[in-house]
Amino acid sequence: MVIGIPKETLPGERRVALVPDLVPKLTKAGLVVAVEPGAGLSAGFPDQAYEAKGTTLEADVLASADIVLKVQPPNLDEIERMTQGSILIGFLQPYGNGPGIKALAARPVTAFSMELMPRITRAQPMDALSAMSTVAGYKAVLLAASRAPKFFPLLMTAAGTVTPARVFVIGAGVAGLQAIGTARRLGAVVEAYDTRPAVKEQVESLGGRFADLELGTADAEDKSGYAKSQSEEFYRKQQELMFKYVTAADAVITTALIPGVRAPVLISEEMVRGMRPGSIIVDLAAEQGGNCALTEAGKEIQRHGVTILAPVNLASSMPYHASEMYARTVTNYLGHLLKDGSVRLDFEDELTRGPLVTHQGEIRNEAVKARL
Ligand code: NAI
Repeated sequence: MVIGIPKETLPGERRVALVPDLVPKLTKAGLVVAVEPGAGLSAGFPDQAYEAKGTTLEADVLASADIVLKVQPPNLDEIERMTQGSILIGFLQPYGNGPGIKALAARPVTAFSMELMPRITRAQPMDALSAMSTVAGYKAVLLAASRAPKFFPLLMTAAGTVTPARVFVIGAGVAGLQAIGTARRLGAVVEAYDTRPAVKEQVESLGGRFADLELGTADAEDKSGYAKSQSEEFYRKQQELMFKYVTAADAVITTALIPGVRAPVLISEEMVRGMRPGSIIVDLAAEQGGNCALTEAGKEIQRHGVTILAPVNLASSMPYHASEMYARTVTNYLGHLLKDGSVRLDFEDELTRGPLVTHQGEIRNEAVKARL
């Protein structure tokens, strides 16, 4: 079987779905790996590095591969070039990419969406979303630090003492926890809040202080560990109680998400107005609508003296390690699907069934089908 690694075509995407060091893992399993020339270049992996690990270079990998590994969803032209009956593993944006999903079903392609990986212990090495959130959480703090008119650490110098910056992190899931750890390593004083009470201990273990808003969030979490949507009244109260934390911060990193719905608005314009001039907001929820009322996805804007950054596809801005981490999750998943060098689909297994979106001409995921 031929595994194909195409060059990503989405403008601005610098990651690649397989890195050279992981090629032997696939070739040892009896697979042939074909890489499109230049596929890894923008991530820092030249063609020679792949060839040295035993890949072939192939101009039209989509047409020749039995299994395609991708980062971004293929566009309609790319789907048209894929072999009928081939397998695709990648981020497919299953809920927001109707035409693509329908085209994959029609081709037909057996497509697995990395976003739909079940969040169970067994699937942790295949959890691409967490891997990319780690990159985003880290990078968000660096963006804030590079825009801030202040140092982050406490400094004692002959020219005087510099007090440390204050960072407030809203949402302490995978990205938020990484942001807390990174801001602490830079020496900032860090506070954080999350609606899931279980997070308090994790925040503290990273050296952050948990902002106990006493909002009574016993019913904050669903059975998969994700946050549940709260009432309008809850969010209004949350804004009110967070006002003093947001306005005391030099940098606010927001990461609060609820799966499948718009991100909750947690920083109002009034709160931005209350922040000190020169303060920074990095809104990592921008792609889901944003946690700040003033966020403009993909832009960096100034409002009331505050810089509001709303980066999209932040993982792509650190393409070397983001590709390495993503490639590990994807090859681990491929390893799960392979038995004796070929793919065997066991639909009894939730790790096979969960991410499966299209198979034999049909959309197989009920939630995706319902959205379309
Ligand atoms: P996410 O990206 O969906 O959300 C980010 C964070 O925002 C979450 O911690 C959520 O509780 C928080 N949030 C939502 N509404 C909020 C509000 N109004 N105010 C403040 N915070 C709010 O979540 P993420 O980071 O992908 O993971 C969340 C949890 O999922 C993890 O902590 C863990 O329990 C579970 N998980 C399990 C894994 C596994 O077992 N394989 C892997 C990764 C995560």
